[in-house]
Amino acid sequence: MELKKPWIPGQARNDDTQAFVVLYWQRRHESRNGNRNRKEIASMKIAELKTPAFLVDLPKLKTNIRRMQERAVKQGVRLRPHVKTHKTAEIARLQVSDKASGITVSTLAEAHFFQKAGFDDITYAFPITPNKLDEAADLTRRLAHFHILIDQLATARAVETYGRDNHVCFSVLLKVDCGYHRAGVDPASPESIQLVDEIQSSRHMRFSGILTHAGHSYRCRNRKEVMAVARQERDVMVAFAARLKQSGIGCETVSVGSTPTAVHAPGWRGVTEIRPGNYAFFDKFQADIGSCRLGEAAATVLTTVAAHYPQHNQLLIDAGALALSKDPGAVHIDDRVVYGAVRGHPGLRLFSISQEHGLINSEAPIAFNDFPVGSLMQIIPNHSCLTAALFDRYHVVEENRVINEWRPMRGW
Ligand SMILES: Cc1ncc(COP(=O)(O)O)c(C=O)c1O
Repeated sequence: MELKKPWIPGQARNDDTQAFVVLYWQRRHESRNGNRNRKEIASMKIAELKTPAFLVDLPKLKTNIRRMQERAVKQGVRLRPHVKTHKTAEIARLQVSDKASGITVSTLAEAHFFQKAGFDDITYAFPITPNKLDEAADLTRRLAHFHILIDQLATARAVETYGRDNHVCFSVLLKVDCGYHRAGVDPASPESIQLVDEIQSSRHMRFSGILTHAGHSYRCRNRKEVMAVARQERDVMVAFAARLKQSGIGCETVSVGSTPTAVHAPGWRGVTEIRPGNYAFFDKFQADIGSCRLGEAAATVLTTVAAHYPQHNQLLIDAGALALSKDPGAVHIDDRVVYGAVRGHPGLRLFSISQEHGLINSEAPIAFNDFPVGSLMQIIPNHSCLTAALFDRYHVVEENRVINEWRPMRGW
């Protein structure tokens, strides 16, 4: 049976009873087969977990979240966190003051999940495609605010036709390319204004504003370079909003955001909202480009030392590509690829990973006695969003205790 509405512990039960009962029995069955209930989890130590396991350090997570909230308040912009990093209702609830505050998602499945969890203002930050309009229309009807992105004339026309045929009016943000060149219209081109005109004149689209993502901030090496990208991101958007205003078109929303630029932007005057996501966890990449210190990374992968190979000066761990992802990290800064940082041991290099194997070496001879077979290590991933996506549960930890278990949503 397909479960349409996930049961979220602690949330009022308004799902259909059959789905609820099936889930209840699934949970009981799981608990007998090794999954632990909340009480059992709360009395566990990290050392008792089966590895590899995804750990979320709650105090660090809360600090990262609080700092970004403070930054947004100080700079007078709304924070609309991108929840694709973690895909959990629990973390999203920590990120926003109330459910009407607004979040960003990267898939329609995420949008449905967070809608069911009670979030009421969602931006789907990937350009809509015609085959997703049924779902987008459904979300438009269910949510107080649901925004889609357009950057193509052909898409705008498909949305217009769909809206007319199905009596829906979509809230549309124009996706703008501020220099990353991944998606979005060139704001200097005549086509960008033409597209806004097309959206504006439709009875089935409401032009809600403009949105960009400065993903090229990930090519930076330090704070100074990120600040320059943040200025560009702001300036391009504010100038475009001014150009639209000259044509008599108002921009309710001017939305920007990546974690590096949100951390280092000197100011956001003219911008209405920022959408960082990765900041909740941070990771090795963010530390390498200067968004955070390595010690602030809130997500790690717990792994076990499986073997010693002194002849090669190597250790084997049970975390490979399916526990870490194969993101090569900030190779524009150091081209000697490592697949994460071994927490507390900067001399150790996780230099090779295959599906389940991870190999660590070091320039100096490894002190194998310090890492007995069976001992545990924590790896700070290169890209926490990709790493988190590989796990079906997160162990929430404080010091050496496991205090909770969170289930992220999965699927497309
Ligand atoms: C459209 C969009 N907005 C916001 C973000 C969040 O940026 P970051 O991952 O740097 O926090 C992303 C990330 O890819 C994105 O694609």
